[in-house]
Amino acid sequence: MTQQHTFDVVIVGAGGAGLRAALESSRRGRTAVITKLYPTRSHTGAAQGGMCAALANVEEDNWEWHTFDTIKGGDYLVDQDAAEVMCREAIEAVYDLEHMGMPFNRTPDGKIDQRRFGGHTHHHGAGAVRRSCFAADRTGHMILQTLFQQNVKQGTTFFDEYYVLDLLRAPDDGRAAGVVAYELATGELHVFRAKSVVFCTGGYGKMFKITSNAHALTGDGPGVCYRRGVPMEDMEFFQFHPTGLYRLGVLLSEAARGEGGILRNSDGEAFMERYAPTIKDLAPRDMVSRAIYTEIREGRGAGPDGDYVYLDVSHLDPKVIDAKLPDITEFARTYLGVEPKKEGVPIVPTAHYAMGGIPTTVDAQVVGDAANTVIPGLFAAGECACVSVHGANRLGTNSLLDIVVFGKRAGVNAGEHAATVDHAELGEDPAGAVTRMLEDLAGHAEGERAAAIRLDLQVNMDDKAGVYRTETLLKEMEVELASLRERYARVWVQDTSRRYNTDLLEAVELGFLLDLAEALVVSARARTESRGGHFREDHPVRDDKNWLKHSLASRGDSGVKLDYKPVTMTRYEPMERKY
Ligand code: FUM
Repeated sequence: MTQQHTFDVVIVGAGGAGLRAALESSRRGRTAVITKLYPTRSHTGAAQGGMCAALANVEEDNWEWHTFDTIKGGDYLVDQDAAEVMCREAIEAVYDLEHMGMPFNRTPDGKIDQRRFGGHTHHHGAGAVRRSCFAADRTGHMILQTLFQQNVKQGTTFFDEYYVLDLLRAPDDGRAAGVVAYELATGELHVFRAKSVVFCTGGYGKMFKITSNAHALTGDGPGVCYRRGVPMEDMEFFQFHPTGLYRLGVLLSEAARGEGGILRNSDGEAFMERYAPTIKDLAPRDMVSRAIYTEIREGRGAGPDGDYVYLDVSHLDPKVIDAKLPDITEFARTYLGVEPKKEGVPIVPTAHYAMGGIPTTVDAQVVGDAANTVIPGLFAAGECACVSVHGANRLGTNSLLDIVVFGKRAGVNAGEHAATVDHAELGEDPAGAVTRMLEDLAGHAEGERAAAIRLDLQVNMDDKAGVYRTETLLKEMEVELASLRERYARVWVQDTSRRYNTDLLEAVELGFLLDLAEALVVSARARTESRGGHFREDHPVRDDKNWLKHSLASRGDSGVKLDYKPVTMTRYEPMERKY
C-alpha cells in the first residue's frame, strides 16, 4: 500500500547541502528531509581538508582574489556571477558554522586557523594563500555533525533510509509537485506531496572503479531529474583528485600538500616543479593528476609495475602530522601498511567530484533549458547541482563552501516559494511509474547480477573516460554502454524479500549510473577541446572560440541530445591558465 504525506518543502538528501537547506526551509514551512542513508553517514562526512573563505585570519586575502582563483581554476567555464556570490558569502558561511559550534582548528591567538590548498593564490596567482578553514582532516565530518545537531535542535522531520525514486511534476505546467520514495525497511512506497522539492543528493563517482566516493554515490538525484526531462549540465567535466591510495582510491587530502607534503616520482624527484613552477604541488587538481600520469607513462612511476607515485610527508614535523593530518596517515597505515612519518605513500589519481549536474540559478532554482527557464518549485544544491561555480575543474575546499552557501540559498528560496503557492495536482497514480520500474527489475528469475555489470561499467569508465580521453576511447565507451544497457535489461535481482532489499536497491542505483555515464561520455565525445578536467589528447588545446559554453545533455528517444548555453561573464577575461 502506498502511504501519502504532505509537506511544504521536501529536501532529498541529508549531506551538508540538504541539512543546511533544511535549517532555512523548516523556519519557513513544514519541511521533510528524505535520505537513503542515516543523515550522519552522508558523504559530506568524507570531505577532509577544509572549507575556504577569504577571512584573512593568517595572511592578507580578499574575496575577489578567491573569485578570480575559482574562475581561473575552473578554466573559465565558471559562471562568474555565481562565483562572486559564493566567494563573497563564504565569509559569513564560515562564521555561521562557527556560531553553530563547529570545532575549527585555531591559531595561537584563538582565530579560525587557515591553510594552503591547490589553486588558491595571492593576488593574481603569486604563490599559495592560506584560505582554507579546517578541523584537522575531518572538516566535512565536523560540518555534517554540526548541521545535523542544529537540525535535531530545530526539530526537522527526517525520513531516514527512504530512497527517492521519482520526481512528480504537475501534468499541466510541469512544476514540482512532490516525490516518490521507497522505504528500505519495509519495501513500501511513499508519495510526498510538496510545493518545493530540493535535490541535495551528492555525486556519482561510483561510475568509476578507482574513486574516493562511497558506495552510495550513484547519482540518484540527477538520475531522477534526468528521467523527468531536466537536462544535465557540463557532464563531461569530472574531477580526478591527484592523491587516492594506490589501487583503492581512498582519499588522501590535498591538505597533506597544503601542509608541505611533496609528490615524488620513482627517482625521488619533486616533479611538480617542472609542471607548475610557481605553486608546484599546489597546482589545481586537473593539472596535478595529468602530471602524475605523465610521470607514470614516461617511465618514472614507482613500484614493481611503475604505476604509482609517492605522496611524501616524512619531512614534516610529526607534531604537525598528528595535529593536522591524523586520519589520512592512519588510512595509509591501515590500508597499505605504510608509515607516512617515515616513507612515501603510494598514490594515484582517484575519481572524486562531478562538476556537472542539475543546472540551477544562483538561487538554486533548477532550470530546464538553454534559455535558463526556471522549473517552478524545483531546487538543487551541492554536488548534484551545477550552478556553475566550479566550471571545468573545482578548486579543493570550494565544495564544502558550495554546499553551505547554496544549500542555504536553496532552503531560503524553497521555503519562500512554498509560502506563495498551493500544492500542485499530482495526476493519476503518482507512484505508478516507480511500481512498474521495480516490478520490471525484480521480474527476472535468472540473468546477470548488478555487481558484475557495475564492475564492467567502472573498469571501462576508468580506462576510456578518465584523466586522458580521445575520440577512439570515448566511442568505444559508447559502444560498451550500449552493451551494458542490454545486460542491465536482463539484470537478476535474486533477493525477493521486502525488508532491506539491498539487491534491488543496487540494481536501481546501477540504472542511474548507466544513464549518467552515457550523458557524460556523449558530452565528452562532442567537446573537441581540452579544458579543466576534460582532457582530450586528440584536441589538447582549450578552444574559447568554439567551446566557451556549457553543455546540456537531455534524454531523447534515440539517445542523448546535446544543447549548449553561454557562460555568464562579469569582469574576468579568459586568459591562459599558468601556475
Ligand atoms: O583533498 C581534500 O581534502 C578534498 C577536498 C575537496 O575535495 O574539496
